[in-house]
Amino acid sequence: MLIDMSEEDFELESLGGVGPVTKQKLVSAGIYNILDLASRGPSEIADIMNINRDKATELCNKARDKLIELGRLEKEFISASELYKKRQAIDRIHMGSNNLDDLLAGGIETQAITEFYGEYGSGKTQICHTLCVIVQMPKEQGGLSAGAIYLDTENTFRPERIVEIAEAYDLDHEEVLSKIIVAKAYNSAHQEFIINEVGRIIEKEDIRLLIVDSAVAHYRAEFLGRGTLAERQQRLNRFMHHLLRIAEIYNVAVVATNQVQSAPDVFFGDPSRPTGGHVIAHTSTYRIYLRKAGKNRIARMVDSPSHPEREVVFVLNEKGVDDPPDSTPKRGR
Ligand SMILES: Nc1ncnc2c1ncn2[C@@H]1O[C@H](COP(=O)(O)OP(=O)(O)OP(=O)(O)O)[C@@H](O)[C@H]1O
Ligand SMILES: [Mg+2]
Repeated sequence: MLIDMSEEDFELESLGGVGPVTKQKLVSAGIYNILDLASRGPSEIADIMNINRDKATELCNKARDKLIELGRLEKEFISASELYKKRQAIDRIHMGSNNLDDLLAGGIETQAITEFYGEYGSGKTQICHTLCVIVQMPKEQGGLSAGAIYLDTENTFRPERIVEIAEAYDLDHEEVLSKIIVAKAYNSAHQEFIINEVGRIIEKEDIRLLIVDSAVAHYRAEFLGRGTLAERQQRLNRFMHHLLRIAEIYNVAVVATNQVQSAPDVFFGDPSRPTGGHVIAHTSTYRIYLRKAGKNRIARMVDSPSHPEREVVFVLNEKGVDDPPDSTPKRGR
């Protein structure tokens, strides 16, 4: 979808009603073009511009309309057959395990958020590292011949692990490392700032995968106690919607992780609840719950609009994510 378009097409002034003063305000908030504008929500624009929500919505809608006109976004009204054709064009990144690919019907999708949630050590960060390597491989091998951005909020990104996985796949690790851009976020405001800047990097560096590991940790740490819960959920909600618009506008796959504490005393129902609560649940397109089972890991697809709810087994090894040694991959389902 990254069609060759000149930068002028995206200039803020090309929208009716955006004069030098408005432009200046937008630019000082890191909104340099229409793509940036469309990826922020009306409530954020209202805050930045100090205008009411209706005016902000109007501005955001103008940006969206312009992107539709330029063929960068889908129209609001579209026939199901047209939509079907468009969905066929969604790209997928393989997971490194046939079992997981089966669970996800072929891998993680661009234009969507895939959320991995589970307790510590369940494999969330390992999955993120593996995807950063696989996305770089050609399509025939499950990748998209493109780079990745890794937004690291817990300081758990390890280049050594990338080297190990790249070598297990017989890739030149120097080259693989050079195509992963790592951004460390020190707090939730910094995390939001980085995401505001990410669009330009995606465009310039040919990025097709955006990792946010973890999406919720800073919010959880900073907003403690019941009194701050509403604000936490609101900020997280805004952040997740921003991620979703980035996935859509730039045609990238977004992967977000979320740690949950397991409660082994609960025998019935789901023993773990994601920390971000319903906010994350409602914004993520696909949600996969991970848990440990001895040396193995189990992944369950939860709440997908199109996948049946079921579980598969995978392992963590030198390839990052892999199938268990005794599993017979069931392809073509
Ligand atoms: N090089 C490796 N080879 C094999 N297994 C590994 C390797 N590196 C890490 N692991 C496995 O990955 C596990 C850690 O998984 P990971 O870091 O993905 O957890 P996580 O779900 O991100 O946890 P947290 O919530 O704490 O961030 C380790 O317990 C180990 O079993
Ligand atoms: Mg982790």
